[in-house]
Amino acid sequence: MKNLLIVFHSQTGNTARLADAAREGAACSPAVTVRCLWAKEAAAADLLWAHGVLFGTPENLGYLSGALKDFFDRTYYAVQDHIQPLPYGLFISAGNDGRGAAQHVQRILRGYAMRAIGAPLICRGDITHDHLARAHELGGTLATGLELGIF
Ligand SMILES: Cc1cc2nc3c(=O)[nH]c(=O)nc-3n(C[C@H](O)[C@H](O)[C@H](O)COP(=O)(O)O)c2cc1C
Repeated sequence: MKNLLIVFHSQTGNTARLADAAREGAACSPAVTVRCLWAKEAAAADLLWAHGVLFGTPENLGYLSGALKDFFDRTYYAVQDHIQPLPYGLFISAGNDGRGAAQHVQRILRGYAMRAIGAPLICRGDITHDHLARAHELGGTLATGLELGIF
C-alpha cells in the first residue's frame, strides 16, 4: 500500500472543493490510502506517513494562505532528514492570478527537497466543472504514479 496525503486550507470553500475532487480522484486507486486534512489539523507525523503529497491553498495577498504556511513552519524541522524526497502536486484557487502563491509554495518545497510531479493547477475565479475535473485528475495522477512506482 502507498499513502497519499492531501493538506489544504480554504477560507471561503473554493480550495476545499478542489481538495475534495483531488481526494475522490486519488481514491480511485485501490492500493493507495488517502488522508485529506485541513492544514491546521495536519502535523509532521502525517508527512512522515506519506509517500506523496498534494498541497492546496488559496492565493491570499500574492502568497499562500497563512494556515498552510503555519503547517510548513510547524513541520520543517521535525521532518528534515527523516523523509525521502517526496513527490508532490499543488492546486491553487485564486481570484485572478495565483502565480505568487505557486512560486512561494514551490520555493518552500525546494527546502523540503520535494519533487513536483507537474505544473501547479491554478484555478482562477469561481470554481468550474473543469477545475474540479482537473483536480480529480491531479489526485488520480499522483495516486496512480505511486501505485505503479513511477514517482
Ligand atoms: C485576503 C484575501 C486576499 C486575496 N488575495 C488574492 C491575490 O493576491 N490574488 C488572487 O488572485 N486572488 C486573491 N484573493 C482571492 C482568493 O484567492 C479567491 O477568492 C480564492 O478562491 C479563495 O479560496 P478559498 O475559498 O479556498 O478561500 C484574495 C482573497 C482574500 C480574502
